[in-house]
Amino acid sequence: MTEIIRLAGVRKAYESAGPPALDDVDLTVRAGEAVAVMGPSGSGKSTLLNVIAGLDRPTAGEIEVAGVRVDKLSETGLAKFRRAHIGIIFQFFHLLDEMTVRDNILLPGRLAGVRTAAANKRADELLDRLGIRGKADAYPARLSGGQRQRVAIARALMNSPELLLADEPTGAVDQAAAQGVRDLLAELNDGGLTLLLVTHDPALAADAGHRLITMRDGRATEAVNA
Ligand SMILES: Nc1ncnc2c1ncn2[C@@H]1O[C@H](COP(=O)(O)OP(=O)(O)OP(=O)(O)O)[C@@H](O)[C@H]1O
Ligand SMILES: [Mg+2]
Repeated sequence: MTEIIRLAGVRKAYESAGPPALDDVDLTVRAGEAVAVMGPSGSGKSTLLNVIAGLDRPTAGEIEVAGVRVDKLSETGLAKFRRAHIGIIFQFFHLLDEMTVRDNILLPGRLAGVRTAAANKRADELLDRLGIRGKADAYPARLSGGQRQRVAIARALMNSPELLLADEPTGAVDQAAAQGVRDLLAELNDGGLTLLLVTHDPALAADAGHRLITMRDGRATEAVNA
């Protein structure tokens, strides 16, 4: 299997004094794998996702995603690279409240310059797949937490990424919705999508994580036979 993520000696220090948020992290993820990242608050989990997505730059080390050194890309290059390869689900969704559900989902397609007809077709597919077609013209403020989460997932999938990064995808939804999210992520992974999931939810780590990475004080360790 080909490598889709490779980190070598990655360090991220937000401040020069004090311990770094990431401390000499090595990590390789192959295409099609599902990796869960767990660990206490402040241990560096979100920072790890952010440097992989190129939303934050490492202080030292190498980060390669889909064969590209993201730590070397310019801001414009990064934005373009992300749109083409990576879907991101943020912890608190970051939906745009002044746009409808459909427009939120379409946004990454618009930014990537996908033609309107093709983008609309993809958005319809995702609305159906996630069971939110009836909410297409609603605004996010009118949705339940579980429905918002599904909009965030649909938006992350809009450009058919090869890698999905998710920060606490079941963190802000109720138990029933969380089960739906776990099932959906497992199904996406069965379809070949590589997953890197930060979670406090042991059920998600067990269902959708073939590998388990534990973060502690910025260091990553992997449980053998997880
Ligand atoms: N933008 C930032 N500026 C300064 N320090 C930061 C920044 N983001 C994170 N940190 C620090 O880096 C460390 C790791 O933070 P991070 O957000 O990665 O933790 P986490 O494991 O995701 O925690 P949680 O489970 O609470 O989300 C923490 O000490 C945090 O205070
Ligand atoms: Mg976090």
